[in-house]
Amino acid sequence: AQAQLESPIMRPVLSLALCLCCCALAECQRRRVEELPRLLFRPNFTQYSGYLTSSSGSGGSRRLFYWLVESSHVDAATAPLVLWMNGGPGCSSVGGLLMTNGPFLANDRAELERNDFAWNRLANVLYIDSPSGVGLSEPGPTDPTELNDNATTRLNLGALLHFYSLFPEYRGRAFYIAGESYAGIYIPLLASAIIEGGHRPGLINLKGIAVGNGLHVPFDRSAFEASRRALTDALGASLGRTKIYSVKVQNNSMRTLNPYNIVQPCYYEEDVSGYPCLNSTALVSYLNDKAAQAALGLNDTVAREYSICHKSVFHAYKQLKRDVLEDFVRMANHSVLVLLYHGALDYLFPVGITQQLLERLPPDPDPLSSQDVWLYCLNEPGYGLQIGGVQRSYLGGRIKYRTVIGAGHSVATDRPEIGLQLLQDFLATSASDARFESCPTEKAESASIAANAAEQPSARIAIAALCICALGFRDRI
Ligand SMILES: *[C@@H]1O[C@H](CO)[C@@H](O)[C@H](O)[C@H]1NC(C)=O
Ligand SMILES: *[C@@H]1O[C@H](CO)[C@@H](O)[C@H](O)[C@H]1NC(C)=O
Ligand SMILES: *[C@@H]1O[C@H](CO)[C@@H](O)[C@H](O)[C@H]1NC(C)=O
Ligand SMILES: *[C@@H]1O[C@H](CO)[C@@H](O)[C@H](O)[C@H]1NC(C)=O
Ligand SMILES: *[C@@H]1O[C@H](CO)[C@@H](O)[C@H](O)[C@H]1NC(C)=O
Ligand SMILES: *[C@@H]1O[C@H](CO)[C@@H](O)[C@H](O)[C@H]1NC(C)=O
Repeated sequence: AQAQLESPIMRPVLSLALCLCCCALAECQRRRVEELPRLLFRPNFTQYSGYLTSSSGSGGSRRLFYWLVESSHVDAATAPLVLWMNGGPGCSSVGGLLMTNGPFLANDRAELERNDFAWNRLANVLYIDSPSGVGLSEPGPTDPTELNDNATTRLNLGALLHFYSLFPEYRGRAFYIAGESYAGIYIPLLASAIIEGGHRPGLINLKGIAVGNGLHVPFDRSAFEASRRALTDALGASLGRTKIYSVKVQNNSMRTLNPYNIVQPCYYEEDVSGYPCLNSTALVSYLNDKAAQAALGLNDTVAREYSICHKSVFHAYKQLKRDVLEDFVRMANHSVLVLLYHGALDYLFPVGITQQLLERLPPDPDPLSSQDVWLYCLNEPGYGLQIGGVQRSYLGGRIKYRTVIGAGHSVATDRPEIGLQLLQDFLATSASDARFESCPTEKAESASIAANAAEQPSARIAIAALCICALGFRDRI
């Protein structure tokens, strides 16, 4: 494996040298974001944006847009660095910032509102639009020699190395990669390249990866359809009729059923440039606004037409078509924590697909840690601990799997409070010091209550039935 990965690693090093020259250009420097138009509050954290220069190896130098939001609640000088990536392929991580887990979310009037569950409460979060042509990154060639998983891995690694050269204070800092959907391929490949390339821990101190509703396997129509059908059957059963799938869903699933979250309605009035079923007009108009682009340092040469997802990239992109379980095991072997979390109401990448992949690993023997409900703290008066979903663990806890109640494809969008808790637990598990604990005493008490309940068969079944019903797991017990 070392020999195979040698050349992919060398190229970013060369491209780093190359980009240092290009970065005489103003927009390649680290550039603070001072004033964002229509931002409804005054942020007390620092932000930077601009380009990172990289190469995929076969093509020339490419400029990828990045946006770094430093931590608002933890000392930014010591807080970990989290790279967030959206999937597609072809979808923009900056879109993820403004509608998923960033410090501000675009509202219907194309204003930016505070997100109380922003991930930069706990970490410095770096968003990169990748590969070329995605989001605010410069357009690149739309051919499969550059738009494929191997080329994207080299491009992402090169961009990351450029980031460390622009922001030396992050060298050796605890580093995590998180993302969702097709980033379920990008992230393990990038993590493997970091591990195999020996960049850790002096420069890239990779501690863990977290993927939400990831695609980790080649798309297999019959396996996906079977898992989707299990989900709609569970929904159907709760509605009083099992077979809703064949009646209305199958023929036009993108309209009568929101594939990102089966209990949410689907918006489809206009031609969507982003995710189906989502009215992203306001977000797209914000990022196409010249004043917003200038605030982000993009008043230079290239005329861009921002889309949340670029169809041309999606169609040209060539997938590697292998599963990434081996990459997860490699990370576990190198003590890199792997968290796979999955919003249970996702029809697009149904929960059963990830479960099938993980069934190839032996589960950890302790039943309480390997197969149990997990709790999150809803930190509001009168609430406290709530069921978050089901969890299992593998390879001595180094691979963790969590389903998420009430969430679809994007956990942090649908259930932002649970998304933040997932991040908190993930960071705390991989670091020696647990920080930012909410409901700490109550948590300890209820965890033992849950453990006691689980020892009594009837209570255990009741809890399991509740979760299975709520999570649409009908066929899995
Ligand atoms: C992609 O990279 C892997 C690992 O380096 C290698 O085995 C594979 O042949 C490459 N695939 C292509 C299409 O280049
Ligand atoms: C930033 O603002 C938030 C929200 O008002 C506050 O809770 C937080 O403590 C502030 N952080 C710093 C470092 O001042
Ligand atoms: C979609 O969003 C835009 C911008 O917020 C809004 O003007 C429009 O009315 C929305 N469309 C529908 C059908 O809600
Ligand atoms: C799906 O569409 C086809 C052709 O439009 C139609 O013949 C068929 O009855 C439809 N099936 C269902 C389940 O609605
Ligand atoms: C581009 O942005 C820079 C810094 O934000 C500003 O000084 C410059 O005037 C802008 N140029 C144009 C053409 O808007
Ligand atoms: C992980 O470690 C096990 C046990 O040492 C070894 O058999 C396996 O080949 C390793 N796998 C990878 C992908 O590194």
